[in-house]
Amino acid sequence: MRRTCYCGELSASMIGEEVVLEGWVNRRRDHGGVTFVDLRDREGLVQVVFSPEVSPQVHEKAREIKNEYVLRIKGKVNRRPPGTENPKLKTGEIEVLATELEVLNPAKTLPFRLDDREVSEEVRLTYRYLDLRRPWMQNNMRLRHKAAMAIRQYMDSLGFIDVETPFLTKSTPEGARDYLVPSRVNPGKFYALPQSPQLFKQILMVAGFDRYYQIVKCFRDEDLRADRQPEFTQIDLEMSFVEREDVMEVVEGIVRTVFKLIDVDLPEKFPVMSYQEAMLKYGIDRPDTRFEMLIQDVSQLFEATEFTAFKETLKKSGVIRGFKAPGGARFSRKELDNWGKRAREFGAKGLISIKVTDQGLQSNLLKYLSSGEIEGLKEAFQVQEGDVVFLAADKEESVADVLGRLRLEVAEALGLIPEDTYAPLWVVDFPLLDWDEDEKRYVAVHHPFTSPMDEDLPLLDTDPLKVRAKAYDVVLNGQEIGGGSIRIHRRDVQKKIFDLLRISEEEAKIKFGFLLEALEYGAPPHGGIALGFDRVMSILTKAESIREVIAFPKTQKAQCLMTGAPSPVDEGQLKELKIKLTVTPEEK
Ligand code: AMO
Repeated sequence: MRRTCYCGELSASMIGEEVVLEGWVNRRRDHGGVTFVDLRDREGLVQVVFSPEVSPQVHEKAREIKNEYVLRIKGKVNRRPPGTENPKLKTGEIEVLATELEVLNPAKTLPFRLDDREVSEEVRLTYRYLDLRRPWMQNNMRLRHKAAMAIRQYMDSLGFIDVETPFLTKSTPEGARDYLVPSRVNPGKFYALPQSPQLFKQILMVAGFDRYYQIVKCFRDEDLRADRQPEFTQIDLEMSFVEREDVMEVVEGIVRTVFKLIDVDLPEKFPVMSYQEAMLKYGIDRPDTRFEMLIQDVSQLFEATEFTAFKETLKKSGVIRGFKAPGGARFSRKELDNWGKRAREFGAKGLISIKVTDQGLQSNLLKYLSSGEIEGLKEAFQVQEGDVVFLAADKEESVADVLGRLRLEVAEALGLIPEDTYAPLWVVDFPLLDWDEDEKRYVAVHHPFTSPMDEDLPLLDTDPLKVRAKAYDVVLNGQEIGGGSIRIHRRDVQKKIFDLLRISEEEAKIKFGFLLEALEYGAPPHGGIALGFDRVMSILTKAESIREVIAFPKTQKAQCLMTGAPSPVDEGQLKELKIKLTVTPEEK
């Protein structure tokens, strides 16, 4: 008996045919002396009927069947009796009358029901092989496969060459902690797992490949969140002799190709927004542009204010900003207080809310404001009955951050974020450098090989924080799905940046000497980007976390609950590596 087709592929056109099916028992029911089994494989379900009229022996044998047993059956495809069709099932018009049955393997009672969506993630990850049996998890993995295939085809059509880069390598400059691998044959020395193929792809440009891409694992030891895994996958690419627009065009094509898989047509060109505008209007460098509720700076309105909090803020060069939430006037006193609490959790000094009702504006702030200021607010936010306006006053970074986060949560609470809408955009003109107050030095916002804007080069000497980078992020529905830049290909500019970052010539040599040397042997101008494949897939599948689109993800504590990794190793292995542990029993 060999399988003739998948359960889920049977159809009415096969009525009368004899088939052999193999699969799992999704459910078994007994009805009027007949046993019904929904047999499941990766393509779907079909109803198999064990009837004493067809074969008394097979019907008797079917009594031992339980859920998730693995069966092989032979039978005849039959039209279901009228009135027993199941329109919800692809194979709902038919059933298979079993003439033979083989139990290929029994199964213990499962720790959870496969149709139960409420199972804890801990249990799901421990029994991932069962979790992955669920149709929606299979769909996620299959869509991921389809996306990878489509991307490969698209990249190939544009002349990109897939080149593998090493995993056992040196530290790469993405700014997270490295995962280290000890070298047995070089005692005391370690490889770092790559945080990205960044340096290698630049080397490939120096080597003349012109267009490189790879769908590749990256490793970062960082704090984990819903959109972060310690090992994740990038769609990584690099191109020679290009400007940022060339890279952007390729990426737009990739994202469009992938979204076509779910019948979503994204625009040919994605809107472009400057980092400065994003921070001002959305309070974040990855704006969710599916809805408005833009943040506005209203500092100017209060230049001559008598309201102490605002006056003090402006005196200290702070800002007063706010946004209007349509429909927010329905928030109760208590709810508004809770938004205030939330804002303070985000680091705000306070949050002012002004309701717009049929009796005009309502807020305990109003008594401190002049009528001119109140009119100004009405005008600035174009208020309408039913709105609520939230205002915050503090240092610029803090206000942007607080309002940016609040904007998202308030919109969510008011149901203002449209579903099935996809809003991609580019954020450009990032600052090249940031100031690290603790270390009292500049740090690279992207990474130290990112090129400054040509017109900003003179500012490197006079006002480094004003220098903009040739960097770009691609954002979708408020998630950063990719980031990249045009690189520095000239040794003199690279030296200047290292000087600003206080990376000494010696340190640079130790860390990435091979790249610096390569830049001196005729490096072409080049640039690239990496997309977070897991993040793209989580948006495509509407998953709440990227763990839903990764077959074997890790927990918040970077553990694999199924295999038990990470785990202790033998004394012998450590000895070979010449490693002595200093963990105390409690730390273990
Ligand atoms: P970057 O560090 O911005 O750039 O990473 C690119 C994209 O990878 C995704 N990503 C992650 N996804 C899941 N878990 C993580 N821990 C994680 N970290 C990042 C994000 C991000 O936008 N070498 C540069 C690219 C370049 O300059 O060409 C780089 O790695 O979606």
